[in-house]
Amino acid sequence: MKTLVSGIQPTGKLTLGNYLGAIKQFVALQNTLEEGDEFFVFIADLHAITIPQIPTELRNAVKSLAAVYLACGLNPEKITLFIQSEVTEHAELGYLMQTISYIGELERMTQYKDKMQKQTQGVSSALLTYPVLMAGDILLYNANFVPVGEDQKQHLELTRNLAERFNSRYSETFNVPNPLITKTGAKIMSLQDPTKKMSKSDPLEKSCIYLLDDEATIKRKIASAVTDSDGVISYDPVNKPGIANLLTILSATTLVPIDELVNKYKDANYSTFKADVAEAIVNELKPIQARYNELLKTQELDNVLNQGREKASYFARKTLTKVKRKMGILRK
Ligand code: TYM
Repeated sequence: MKTLVSGIQPTGKLTLGNYLGAIKQFVALQNTLEEGDEFFVFIADLHAITIPQIPTELRNAVKSLAAVYLACGLNPEKITLFIQSEVTEHAELGYLMQTISYIGELERMTQYKDKMQKQTQGVSSALLTYPVLMAGDILLYNANFVPVGEDQKQHLELTRNLAERFNSRYSETFNVPNPLITKTGAKIMSLQDPTKKMSKSDPLEKSCIYLLDDEATIKRKIASAVTDSDGVISYDPVNKPGIANLLTILSATTLVPIDELVNKYKDANYSTFKADVAEAIVNELKPIQARYNELLKTQELDNVLNQGREKASYFARKTLTKVKRKMGILRK
C-alpha cells in the first residue's frame, strides 16, 4: 500500500510546465493505483497567500484549478481532490513542524531567495516558512511518494529532513517521502529565455504557453520561441537550449522518446519542426479546454471538492492526533 500527495498553487494561469511536469504525471499515476493506495491532490491556496493576492481573483483561481485538474483527466473515484485551507490540519501541522525547523535551513531555499527578491511590498514571514507548510502537507498523509517538477526537489529534501528529525526526536512517526520526477518534462523552460524555467509568474506572456491559450496564440508563441542559428535539430540543452526545450515539450506531450524525434526531424527545418510542436500542443490542450469550459458550468466541482475535503480530513485528523500526542500537547 502506498500514499501519494501533491498540490499546485492557484496563482496566475497554469502553464504547460505545470501540466507536463505535474498534472500529466498525476493522471498517469492515478491509473497505476492499486487497492488500498491513496492519492491526495490539492489546491494549495495557503501557499498562494504567502505573496499578496487579490481575494476575488484567488477565489476564481481556486475554482479554475479544480476544473483544470478534472479536465486534464484526474478521476475523483481514484484520487482525493480538495482545497488545502478546507482541511485545517494543514495549517496546524505546518505550525508544529516549524518548531523543529531552523531559520538557517529555510533561508537557504532557492525559491525563497528568488521570490524574496521579487517582493516589492515586504517579505512575509510565511514566505520563509512556506517549505515547512509544504512538508506538513506531505507528512499529514504519511506520503511515500510526491510527484513534482524538478523545481520542488529542494523542498522535498527539506521535507525528508524534517520527517527524519521528527522521528528521531519523538519516535518513529512519518514515512520519509520520495519525490517522483518525470524523466522528460520535469523542467520545461521559458520560450523566450530557455535557460530559465517556464513560470506562471513570468511577466512576459510569450515566454509561457498557458493551458487555456487558444490555438492561434499557441502557434504564435511557439513560432516566436527563441532558438539558435545553426539550423540543426539535435538535443543539446547546453549549446542549444531552445531546440532542446521544444524537443522536450514535444516528447513529453506525445510520449515519443527524444531520440526518435531527433531522428524524425534530422532533415527538417526549424519552422516545420515548430509547426509540429505547436500542433501537438494544440491537440493535447483542445479537449482539455472543452472539458474545462463544460465543468465550470456544472455542480460537479463543488460535489467533488466537498467529498475530497471529508476524506482528506479523516486521514489528516488521525495523523495530527498522533503527532500532538507524541509532542505532549494532548491532554490524554
Ligand atoms: P507550483 O504551483 O509552483 O507548481 C505546481 C507543479 O508544477 C511543477 N512545475 C513545473 N514542472 C516542469 N516545468 C516547469 N516549468 C514547471 N513549473 C512548475 C512544479 O514542480 C509542481 O510540481 N510548492 C508547490 C505546491 C505544493 C506542493 C505541496 C507540491 C504545496 N504543497 C506538497 C507537492 C506536495 C508549488 O509551488 O508548486
